[in-house]
Amino acid sequence: MTTERAPTPFLSVRDLHAWYGESHALHGVSLDVAQGQTVTLLGRNGVGKTTTLRAIMGIIRKRKGFIEFDGRDLMQTPLHRTAHAGIGFVPEERGIFATLTVDENLILPPVVAPGGMSVAEIFELFPNLKERRNSSGTKLSGGEQQMLAIARMLRTGVKLLLLDEPTEGLAPVIVERIGEVLATLKARGMTILLVEQNFRFASRIADRFYLMEHGRITVDFPAAELEDRMAALHDVIGV
Ligand SMILES: Nc1ncnc2c1ncn2[C@@H]1O[C@H](COP(=O)(O)OP(=O)(O)OP(=O)(O)O)[C@@H](O)[C@H]1O
Ligand SMILES: [Mg+2]
Repeated sequence: MTTERAPTPFLSVRDLHAWYGESHALHGVSLDVAQGQTVTLLGRNGVGKTTTLRAIMGIIRKRKGFIEFDGRDLMQTPLHRTAHAGIGFVPEERGIFATLTVDENLILPPVVAPGGMSVAEIFELFPNLKERRNSSGTKLSGGEQQMLAIARMLRTGVKLLLLDEPTEGLAPVIVERIGEVLATLKARGMTILLVEQNFRFASRIADRFYLMEHGRITVDFPAAELEDRMAALHDVIGV
């Protein structure tokens, strides 16, 4: 057992509630992500993982609680200012513009802070996107779309990435490639909050895991405990 104190959180979420209309989806989510860490949110379908990311971004307006990022109160930050606060959201549906080319998709999101990667650096990290730079969004495979969805956040200078199931539906070789990319981003100091069902994949980069059940966090543990908890997690998550 280590008795190290947890580092100061970069993102801090406390007692977060969120609603879709009258439907109460988050029932008091609390989690911390330290700067440079990768934190993975696990949980069965429908427990509120995506809703947690949407509530942090401010996409869900009906929310209550406390969210602080990099010293800024996100509860007071409207959706259109969240990216400027330094958070990049890569939604499950990826949101690639079908009629725009890879190049155009890549330069579309505005730069919000210094320190982002250049297009040349991004293509170094994603050589397959470079090859496809003049192809339109519709022509890309699922894996290429996922890579582009991550890649276009890297120019903007955001300091925290929220990734919603980036490996879902992708072939093992592509999952492997995305794992390498995330490990590289982490090595460059990116902070990542990852929603992921594939905890083999997540275990390569995650420092900490949170398990969600019924709209709240029920378990959290450091990556070192993943192996011992694997059987119990399989029971809860059912994957
Ligand atoms: N747009 C919406 N309108 C109404 N209810 C919603 C909406 N999106 C999600 N919900 C409900 O909110 C709850 C949490 O859903 P959420 O999508 O956050 O779960 P999740 O953990 O991301 O699941 P999955 O693993 O399937 O992606 C579920 O009961 C879901 O049916
Ligand atoms: Mg989801």
